[in-house]
Amino acid sequence: MKPMGVAVVGASMRSSMVLKYLKDHPENGHIEGIYDIIPARGEYMLKQYGHSDARVYDSLEQAVGDPDVDAVCVCTSDGEHVKPSVAALAAGKHVFCEKPMTITLEDADELIAAAQKSRAVFYLGMNLRHAPVFDQMHKMVQEGKIGRLLAIESNEHYFGGRTYFRRWNRLRQYGGGLWITKACHDFDLLNWFAGGKAKRVFGVSSLSHYKPNPKAGTHCRVCGLKNECPDYFDVSDPKALSWSPENEVLGRLTEEATGVPRDICLYNSDKDTFDNGIAIVEYDNDVRATYTVSVVASMSTRQMRLTGTDGFIEGDLHAGIVKYWKRYAKEGDWPEVIDLNEKMHSGHGGADDNLLYDFFECCRTGKKPRSSWMDGRASVQVGLAARESCDTGNPVILG
Ligand SMILES: NC(=O)c1ccc[n+]([C@@H]2O[C@H](COP(=O)([O-])OP(=O)(O)OC[C@H]3O[C@@H](n4cnc5c(N)ncnc54)[C@H](O)[C@@H]3O)[C@@H](O)[C@H]2O)c1
Repeated sequence: MKPMGVAVVGASMRSSMVLKYLKDHPENGHIEGIYDIIPARGEYMLKQYGHSDARVYDSLEQAVGDPDVDAVCVCTSDGEHVKPSVAALAAGKHVFCEKPMTITLEDADELIAAAQKSRAVFYLGMNLRHAPVFDQMHKMVQEGKIGRLLAIESNEHYFGGRTYFRRWNRLRQYGGGLWITKACHDFDLLNWFAGGKAKRVFGVSSLSHYKPNPKAGTHCRVCGLKNECPDYFDVSDPKALSWSPENEVLGRLTEEATGVPRDICLYNSDKDTFDNGIAIVEYDNDVRATYTVSVVASMSTRQMRLTGTDGFIEGDLHAGIVKYWKRYAKEGDWPEVIDLNEKMHSGHGGADDNLLYDFFECCRTGKKPRSSWMDGRASVQVGLAARESCDTGNPVILG
């Protein structure tokens, strides 16, 4: 079958996943072009990933109207998913939409209505469902290995997350706050594992560390704390963000286009979200879940523990290990250890390539996506409830 024509909207860091995947797997699709409100970012990303025959579109309309395009990958910032997705669906193009689906329920409903009207596939990028570790754990629950699931304990500690405080993610108007931009992933996992409907959500969170520092400047270049601040970002040093040199280039291009410095102080930036928090979600099927998130982290890790009537499962996304304890088994017989490292060949513990493979397969075959539109909406709903609970101090009952 002929590879699908693909347009990318949003020359984001995350768009690198699509651009790299299609470079490595041209049998699935061919990048026809990219659209971004900052065209230089699009040009850079096409060059960086070797899509020299692709074009930089002048407008969203040009991208979704390109007759060579069968699918549009929406990789813009969170609050900018609706417009390109709706336009692409209206043009009859399949859509891959990054998580979170949207940052408000009104937008989610608009998107669902557009997807219902279209014959094209609307696919949500809930990659964690495709991570070998979580996929394995979910299968074990479905197979009945732990009996009836009672409780879920989950966390994410994200070292790179501190940079949110100099990016759009720090403001609710662009990303909904960390309970949406970050946690929608994890709430989707909790919903998926629990298999019920979230009925009550309680959250506590705090901006404990990245608080204003009167001794620091507005951004690193004008700050006198160069030698003492561990979060100092030296824009003149290309290795300053060695974990992601592309991030540095993309940041520079945005700074050139908007005049907003890319080295905004993580402490003094304006922000209306938190740096550590805990949410409790209660489901209508006698399952309870907790989720701890922190971007004041010493490393990056994502873990989940499942307690059931007949067993216990523990999974670690970054270690690629799942451990299983059968209840009442003889000591020494457990835990059973499943090493999934061989399957961790792409980002997010091997999830990213699996996700894109699945997207193109759904487009080709009509197979149902693993995350439905309502799943996408449900994860936003739980995130919004956690946010409201933190704001008010009260649990939120979901209708
Ligand atoms: N699934 C995952 O694991 C995962 C990981 C990282 C990011 N993401 C998601 O990917 C998306 C992009 O995040 P990022 O951090 O890579 O973003 P980014 O800040 O690197 O880039 C965002 C891009 O969107 C562009 N943009 C903004 N509004 C636009 C519009 N209306 N039309 C066209 N372009 C527009 C910006 O100019 C910028 O180039 C977000 O939704 C984020 O939550 C998902």
